[in-house]
Amino acid sequence: MTSTMVCFGTRPEAIKMCPVIRELKKRNIKTTICVTGQHRQMLDQVLDALGIIPDYDLAIMKPGQDLFDVTISALEGIKSVLKEVNPDIVLVHGDTSTTFAVSLACYYLKIPVGHVEAGLRTYDVYAPFPEEFNRQATGIIAQYHFAPTEMAKKNLISEGKPQENIFVTGNTAIDALKITVKDDFESEYLNWAKGCRLVLITAHRRENLGEPMHAMFRAIKRVLNEHEDVKAIYPVHLNPAVRKIVDEELKGVDRMRIIEPLDVLEFHNLMAKAYMVLTDSGGIQEEAPSLGKPVLVMRNVTERPEGIEAGTLMLVGTEESSIYESFSCLLSDGDKYNQMANARNPYGDGRAAERIVDVLEKLVK
Ligand code: UD1
Ligand code: UDP
Repeated sequence: MTSTMVCFGTRPEAIKMCPVIRELKKRNIKTTICVTGQHRQMLDQVLDALGIIPDYDLAIMKPGQDLFDVTISALEGIKSVLKEVNPDIVLVHGDTSTTFAVSLACYYLKIPVGHVEAGLRTYDVYAPFPEEFNRQATGIIAQYHFAPTEMAKKNLISEGKPQENIFVTGNTAIDALKITVKDDFESEYLNWAKGCRLVLITAHRRENLGEPMHAMFRAIKRVLNEHEDVKAIYPVHLNPAVRKIVDEELKGVDRMRIIEPLDVLEFHNLMAKAYMVLTDSGGIQEEAPSLGKPVLVMRNVTERPEGIEAGTLMLVGTEESSIYESFSCLLSDGDKYNQMANARNPYGDGRAAERIVDVLEKLVK
């Protein structure tokens, strides 16, 4: 094998593939970067902040796209790029529709796939939706599985993947934090929150759109109203369906700033300085433990149980009452807070990309 192609399409994939791209380039392995552009502005924010210049950009995003749109456009768009570049291996990441569609295209063209962040499972194909399916389907296609943890490896083995093709590497999210987080970070948001406890909020999951998201926001509003020493920053995902609910529930809440998505440098550094996080995001569940930030995970299940076991993450469901109680409790119970903040990070030492490229180098020879 002599050439690698790295394909991704959304914000979290870009953040977690960046360390791999840097490592590939550092070792002079021929690397082609192709983005589907499933996300536009949120992807470009990462590319700009981290200095990644794609060789190909399929530019597939259209506002209000559904799962058919993304899957069809990515599958169709990637075909000619794969035929032109004809890489020896394609690296995909995680569980998005880009990941699935690109893997499927590789399968049709019989190009080997390396799956970064492989083996995470809930075994409930509707939660997270459609990510659980995307990840399992990519796992069926992939030849090489880069599992972030032993638990992920165990899942893959139990599904019959050959043990010699599974590599436990840690999660490249931790590598990314090493690039982004700086001690001397300053921000207007930190100045604004001075003297208060700063809570970071994000939410975007498809299965939470509708009543679950309304319930989350009602709970958060109630807690903020009751704690004058707490301020919240919520950079809202660009999905119009999310924005509509934010508009309906969170307009004019005291001590809360509703802002545009932050670039990754600012978001990671703010998280490093925050008191705690409320989210339904996947990636934030990996990053926060390594920054020692307790996270209330506003979901009913998670494919990232390691952080729950370690003690940094708490699964609080999507009911107003459970989120309200857990959030209030964490703000008033210092012992519980310290326990969560001091838990062990289960996602590796920030050298996942090195391990992935070590494996690729052996394949490349
Ligand atoms: C996608 C992934 C999800 C991942 C998330 C990260 C799928 C099916 N879902 O979900 O796994 O957790 O990205 O954020 O692959 N939009 C913009 N500009 C952007 C990005 C999004 O306007 O830069 C709007 C568009 O109107 C788009 C909508 O957001 O229709 C949803 O984007 P989409 O990629 O379809 O789904 P996400 O919910 O972002
Ligand atoms: N993130 C960011 N800016 C923001 C919110 C999140 O850079 O305003 C980062 C966050 O640190 C994490 C990733 O985006 O690395 C998570 O993306 P998202 O929650 O959209 O997707 P998921 O991880 O759930 O797939």
